[in-house]
Amino acid sequence: MASDETAAPTDWQLYTGERVPHEGIERLPDPPPWRTFTGGPPLPVPPGDSGNRHAAASYRPSRDAVRQVNAALYLRRPLLVTGAPGTGKSSLAYAVAHELGLGKVLHWPITSRVALRDGLYEYDPLTRLYAAERAREDGPRGATGPDDIGDYLRLGPLGTALLPYERPRVLLVDEIDKSDIDLPNDLLTIFEKGSYELVELARRAEPTARVMTADSTTDRVEIRDGTVTCRAFPLVVMTSNGEREFPPAFLRRCVTVDLKQPATVEELTAIVREHLGGVVGADHGEGTEGELPDGAREIIERFFARRSKGLLANDQLLNAIYMCHHASFSESPETVAELADQVMPYLSRDTAGLDDDGGAPR
Ligand SMILES: Nc1ncnc2c1ncn2[C@@H]1O[C@H](COP(=O)(O)OP(=O)(O)OP(=O)(O)O)[C@@H](O)[C@H]1O
Ligand SMILES: [Mg+2]
Repeated sequence: MASDETAAPTDWQLYTGERVPHEGIERLPDPPPWRTFTGGPPLPVPPGDSGNRHAAASYRPSRDAVRQVNAALYLRRPLLVTGAPGTGKSSLAYAVAHELGLGKVLHWPITSRVALRDGLYEYDPLTRLYAAERAREDGPRGATGPDDIGDYLRLGPLGTALLPYERPRVLLVDEIDKSDIDLPNDLLTIFEKGSYELVELARRAEPTARVMTADSTTDRVEIRDGTVTCRAFPLVVMTSNGEREFPPAFLRRCVTVDLKQPATVEELTAIVREHLGGVVGADHGEGTEGELPDGAREIIERFFARRSKGLLANDQLLNAIYMCHHASFSESPETVAELADQVMPYLSRDTAGLDDDGGAPR
């Protein structure tokens, strides 16, 4: 948790933000009656880490973020995470999956061309048709049997997250503000029901099919009567840079949290130490592992001063410290400082006029 906001995790908070994996998710109480889902039979969460190990294990969430992640877990509601670029919106999803042992994060990047169906499943009827033709030509030797539709149907990240897992999966709906105008409402309908139909399966005579998932093309899951209903509602993390206002009907069905830039040099230092302490600290041979050398502290202060003039993101600071650490072995302090500014240019053109030290875009 961010250093200026430390508070002992209370029992109700399953996600603590302390970055150490644990089994706290087993204490998650039953959902409120209006958010109970009855899908089954229960599936175990596939083994594997969250998929972005470094971001997950080095993330220091704010107290607000910790609280709202827990609220989303308890209420079985999607979490809408807003904030400026680089404030850690996407990383939060990986951090929660890592700490609570929720397996691989299902990542669904959103653009204006993405529709609900892309997240649910993909069906490839043409390849299925060609395969059926070939099987006919080959005679009985080549026949693939009547239940081959699962070879041509793969669930997407949203479709997979809604399978009847016994623990919530983490679904990252990344940059939902870039979506087509209809997607947020379409998503809400699915999240209200916790269920969807695969029409291609529903209209077949066979009651079951074994389909591919977003996790794997080999480990199939069985779908009965062409319908998927969730069991443990997934932790849905929807990120937004604020390029779009969402309607009240959408907002009222979400838990929301706005991530802020670290407010103090100490907070920023703690984040840098988490990411780079083992790299720059150890290389310099200064003190214990994790301690930052003076050069890194100077760049943090420089970043903080520059940020008061314009938009900068946390990962620009990490890049600058990493680069300057290597450059400092052969370059003068002035050249290193210049390099730092070039590696962390302002991200917003509004502030270009304010910059008098060469870093702003012109
Ligand atoms: N609170 C934090 N603790 C540790 N690392 C952080 C924190 N906030 C951001 N970072 C680091 O900053 C970088 C950017 O984070 P991330 O990609 O999650 O930001 P974002 O808000 O999703 O940005 P964008 O809007 O550009 O997608 C990552 O390397 C992440 O690990
Ligand atoms: Mg992001």
